[in-house]
Amino acid sequence: MKIVIAGTGYVGLVTGVVLANTGHNVTCVDVDQKKIDLMNSGKSPIYEEGLEELMVKNKERLNYTTDYKNAYKNAEVIFIGVATPEHVDGSANLDYVYEVVKQIAENLENDCIVVIKSTVPIGTNDEIEKYLKEHVKENIQISIVSNPEFLAQGTAVKDTLYASRIVVGTEDERAKEIMRELYEPLTKEPYNVPYISMNRKSAEMVKYASNDFLALKISYINEIANFCEKVGANIEDVTKGMGYDPRIGNKFLKAGIGYGGSCFPKDTKALHWLSRKFEAELKTVRACIEVNKLQKIRMYTKLKNDFKSLNGENVAVLGLTFKAGTDDMREAPSIDNIELLLDAGANVHAYDPIGIEKFKTAIANRIPDETVQKRIQYFDNIDATIKDCVAVMIMTEWPEIVNYDIKNFKKLMKTVAIYDGRNCYSLEEIKKENVKYESIGR
Ligand code: UDX
Repeated sequence: MKIVIAGTGYVGLVTGVVLANTGHNVTCVDVDQKKIDLMNSGKSPIYEEGLEELMVKNKERLNYTTDYKNAYKNAEVIFIGVATPEHVDGSANLDYVYEVVKQIAENLENDCIVVIKSTVPIGTNDEIEKYLKEHVKENIQISIVSNPEFLAQGTAVKDTLYASRIVVGTEDERAKEIMRELYEPLTKEPYNVPYISMNRKSAEMVKYASNDFLALKISYINEIANFCEKVGANIEDVTKGMGYDPRIGNKFLKAGIGYGGSCFPKDTKALHWLSRKFEAELKTVRACIEVNKLQKIRMYTKLKNDFKSLNGENVAVLGLTFKAGTDDMREAPSIDNIELLLDAGANVHAYDPIGIEKFKTAIANRIPDETVQKRIQYFDNIDATIKDCVAVMIMTEWPEIVNYDIKNFKKLMKTVAIYDGRNCYSLEEIKKENVKYESIGR
């Protein structure tokens, strides 16, 4: 099968590489020549465990190109996996998707199935179908299939090979058959991925409903954690007690500094926006968004209450990425907290094992003033980061941060005040050290 993937981000590239690994020939298309050159040299443009190994292993079956015209011309199946970021009003921005759709319409010369992997609002597949049917050359049969992606960053390869499920939305019998055949290797040993067919709108909805449910779970547990602090309960014991109920489960119940990343923030906003458009507002999703907004800056709020002034003081921030195991900085709580620290006059000492370069770009977009940016100093080890600081904020659960020797805080800091947004330390350890310590829900 001649498979083409449009977009080589987390979704597109991982899908392409995994399909190549199951025996298909795959052409990955991107507009960024630098990225294409990098991939042609066997390197992955994103940090994702196991990805480069699979790129090298399947190099005979993988092509990378910016030449979309040739790629789309004779493709049998084209996957669209480009980004759908948010507009300022929260709705999904489909410009990249439509750019690809337009290019497909202009260049396609044979029958083709277009598979939408990008997360798109319910009804978008229908609109794309209408557009393509009106714009492709005469006599070309075209089918649109919704096939949402559920991978998480940091475990993207594993999440795709051993996916929790493959959801395929189409009513077209020919497309149904081809999609079955395409995914067959993943539905068999050793992967055994469940394969679920449905109509397109349902498939589009599965993606949003799943992500928003997970986001809700996080906002709920974060709110319960905040309440635990008020009433003297411990969120870790509470979630342990809850998690044994199989209807609740023990996953995705970790209280922290709110969800970030490329999916939950935009997908909650997009579904909420869509529900309002249909005059059927999803009130639970609205609450989830509101809770998360406050949770992201909860550590800063605590710190600010404890210090009369932060003006001219050094504050350490450990971890910049939105979670461990990725260098992605999208919607990372570190950005909001560091912006507030700088606003309050503090100097920031920042540490992250792999995210510093991407953080620099993210903070420059948020705070264009270079004199303010210069008040952030970057370090490649935790000892140097916390030295002479009056407080430390823990933002990401990187192993080197979670396992950092608690004794060093007293040795190296000017005054010890720890704001631990990821509950890295046990309360027993903290008690022994007798230091000022704030965490989530304990
Ligand atoms: C998520 C979904 O998991 C994935 O299925 C979807 O396709 C894309 O969005 P991702 O954003 O990569 O994946 O990361 P995930 O591990 O789900 O974490 C998202 C955010 O929630 C992170 O900020 C993380 O720190 C936070 N989180 C997660 C919690 O605060 N508590 C938890 O228990 C789990």
